[in-house]
Amino acid sequence: MSATLAFATGGMLPQASSFAASVDQSFDLVTWFAVFLGVLVTGGLSLLLVGPRAPAAVQRRRLMQYGALAALLLVVGFFVQGARVWADMQVVPRGAFPIAVALEDKGWSFTYPNGFVTGELHLPIDRPVRFLFKGSERAYSFAIPAFRMQVPVALREDRVAWVQPTLAGEFDLRTSIDPRAETSIQVQVHAEGGFDKWYQDISGPDLTLPPIELGQKSYQMRGCTQCHTVDGSKLVGPSFKGFATRIHKLTDGTTVEPTDEYIKESVLDPQAKVVEGFEPVMPSFRGRLQDIEIAGLAAYIKSLQ
Ligand code: HEC
Repeated sequence: MSATLAFATGGMLPQASSFAASVDQSFDLVTWFAVFLGVLVTGGLSLLLVGPRAPAAVQRRRLMQYGALAALLLVVGFFVQGARVWADMQVVPRGAFPIAVALEDKGWSFTYPNGFVTGELHLPIDRPVRFLFKGSERAYSFAIPAFRMQVPVALREDRVAWVQPTLAGEFDLRTSIDPRAETSIQVQVHAEGGFDKWYQDISGPDLTLPPIELGQKSYQMRGCTQCHTVDGSKLVGPSFKGFATRIHKLTDGTTVEPTDEYIKESVLDPQAKVVEGFEPVMPSFRGRLQDIEIAGLAAYIKSLQ
């Protein structure tokens, strides 16, 4: 990390994106420029004017000209460096992985190309990612300090930005407004291969399949088979065989109809109704399955005679 930024942040901020180093360089340049000006103006001039052997007028003028020239060169260097970083940030590389971002009342919402919507931000390492910020009824900013990334999103205006993470790990994502717990989250940058695995996992089955087929695919891909069967044999959980024509007795002595709502509740909130004779060990699939996939599961489960 740059020396000056390390000083400013207490050395806590890793350079976790491809922009980080050049942004830090610009930061250094500004800092050293300020230091230079400070030395020049306070030190140099006072020495020139009241030093023990103050130079003659001609020499003094020349010295001041050199000083001004050096300052000009620094300003130009600063401009070139800044413009380079800025230009780099404007041009989204082709093939960047697109993620749509919105800030809603309940916190961040990230929409991945497969249509999956979640409050978690997962990113691949060493691959460019393109963010599309959806403008809404309030302005907000999207800031990941470790990436040296800060994107202001104006009222009702969409905006695009990109970044290439270069370090795996978890990094803070914040917004300048409304710093509630839900808006300060951790961005997860997956190590090589980890992102593809995560993405495949959330991608699940093709959501355009007919409901029963979609449900069957989902049943296999989402790991329901670890605990359920379709042939009547019991595993950790009940078999789905004859689901629609069976009476479902619960641990509290009541019974429940085999409706779509019941299946949906079982998937999202498995402990709300626990089937008699089984342990309440089913994990919730909340946030992992879209409604259309749950509807497919219900259609499939009810179709099993
Ligand atoms: C770790 C094991 C486990 C996994 C994985 C699991 N379940 Fe379950 N499931 C259970 C257990 C145990 C029960 C019975 C206790 C209860 O009702 O919570 C159950 C109950 C159910 C019921 C109610 C069954 C009935 O006869 O009334 C449905 C519906 C259901 N699961 C659907 C699913 C679906 C769909 C998936 C995959 C997306 C899934 N489960 C994954 C363990 C699991």
